[in-house]
Amino acid sequence: MKRQEIKEILQSEAIGSTIKVSGWVRTKRESKNVNFINLNDGTVLSNLQVVADVNLFDESILRKINTGAALTVVGELVESGGQQKVELVAKEIEVVGEADPDKYPLQPKRHSLEFLREIAHLRFRTNTFSSIARIRHAMIFAVHKFFTEKGFFNIHTPIITASDAEGAGEMFQVTTFELNNPPRSDDGKIDYSQDFFGKHTGLTVSGQLEGELAALALSKIYTFGPTFRAENSNTSRHLAEFWMIEPEMAFYDLNDNMDLAEEFLKYLINYALENCEEDLMFLSQRQQQEEKNKPQDQRSMELIEKLKFVADNEFVRLTYTEAIKILQNSKPAKKGKFQYPVEGFGTDLQSEHERYLVEKHFKRPVILIDYPADIKAFYMKVNEDGNTVAAMDVLFPQIGEIIGGSQREERYDVLVEKMKAMNIPLEEMEWYLDTRRYGSVPHSGFGLGFERLITFVTGMGNIRDVIPFPRTPKNCEF
Ligand code: 4AD
Ligand code: MG
Repeated sequence: MKRQEIKEILQSEAIGSTIKVSGWVRTKRESKNVNFINLNDGTVLSNLQVVADVNLFDESILRKINTGAALTVVGELVESGGQQKVELVAKEIEVVGEADPDKYPLQPKRHSLEFLREIAHLRFRTNTFSSIARIRHAMIFAVHKFFTEKGFFNIHTPIITASDAEGAGEMFQVTTFELNNPPRSDDGKIDYSQDFFGKHTGLTVSGQLEGELAALALSKIYTFGPTFRAENSNTSRHLAEFWMIEPEMAFYDLNDNMDLAEEFLKYLINYALENCEEDLMFLSQRQQQEEKNKPQDQRSMELIEKLKFVADNEFVRLTYTEAIKILQNSKPAKKGKFQYPVEGFGTDLQSEHERYLVEKHFKRPVILIDYPADIKAFYMKVNEDGNTVAAMDVLFPQIGEIIGGSQREERYDVLVEKMKAMNIPLEEMEWYLDTRRYGSVPHSGFGLGFERLITFVTGMGNIRDVIPFPRTPKNCEF
């Protein structure tokens, strides 16, 4: 007999049929004559209740049916008087994999997220983390669907690279050198010409630069790959390894870029609302439970309401300079409540400032544009004022910056000057400059941090809980 998955069983509700199901025991409740076993196979949030008549099964089998054990059950699907419409009356039970109830770390009770992070190899077996995994998958699919529908091509950009695209010096090094005895040149410096790639290399911080090369031939492309940043930020919004979606479009200016970013985010959120309802409802209840002891004004907006709110409202668009004015005149600035003071033009906005604009001032997502050139990457287009660049950051409630992007500097001379001023090694970037030498055109793009999106969609408070195996400073388990 072919195994059926719990998702299809609960959808078909084929009362009276004999079926075979496999999964892991979430809970077992014993009454005098029957055992009630909640079985979950991860295909949906819901469990299937299995009813086992104790007189039908050997004590040796019943004893092995514990939380965490894997079972295959053949039985008859019947109507249920309980919360679910159907349940399975067991005829045969096979214990596929035992789990010692005294040792299995996941007990049928609420565990803290911190504890579950320590057993991330098992946390998929909880409702919270299986919901997140299913939503994450749906979002990956929706990303590809959106861009495919719009005629974009997916490009695989390299993971090992020699260029620090953001120029922030946050690259992890890739080398095959014996670290305690690397070859050195006469001046005592490490001689990377003898390394595996014959040069100094690292893990990519962004696929953008290579994405630009493709966009200047294919018109519209996107990358969706892992990116790595050796920035020592121990926050609830930073990972050392995260996934980024980076579209790049020829003949798009900053306005086109903003339109695309807004449409894209709304599409993804609507996709989640339409396709992940059960998991979102569960996560919504989880969040409300978690926040029930907080004062009213510190509680989050209900998850589904929040998602609808973002999907249905226009994002505010304003310049960095306007934002600075708003922040300087804000209550927290006047009362000295910001941890980082807002000095004026040139201040790098912190997440507390971004969240103030979004959550307190405008009460909706904000796209900030025209940032000071000095605090942004070398490739951004210099505006006519000479001081600002055509950058855009999309700011979300709870998250702060969810997207960073810009129109790119397509003028060869301006770009070269900028690179010199910012100490970007020109000789290593000739390939990039070629796009500006031959058939250069205005173009734009942005990067969406995938885990920041998932943090927002799931309402989780920490980015480490929305990627299966988080990598953060001093933490690379599993
Ligand atoms: O703003 P960033 O650094 O922009 C770029 O890398 C550009 N090359 C993108 C482009 O224009 N093609 O990063 C883009 C986004 C951020 O807005 C944020 O959502 C996410 O990536 N991000 C991180 N997410 C998790 N952990 C980190 N350490 C992140 N750093 C950036
Ligand atoms: Mg950024």
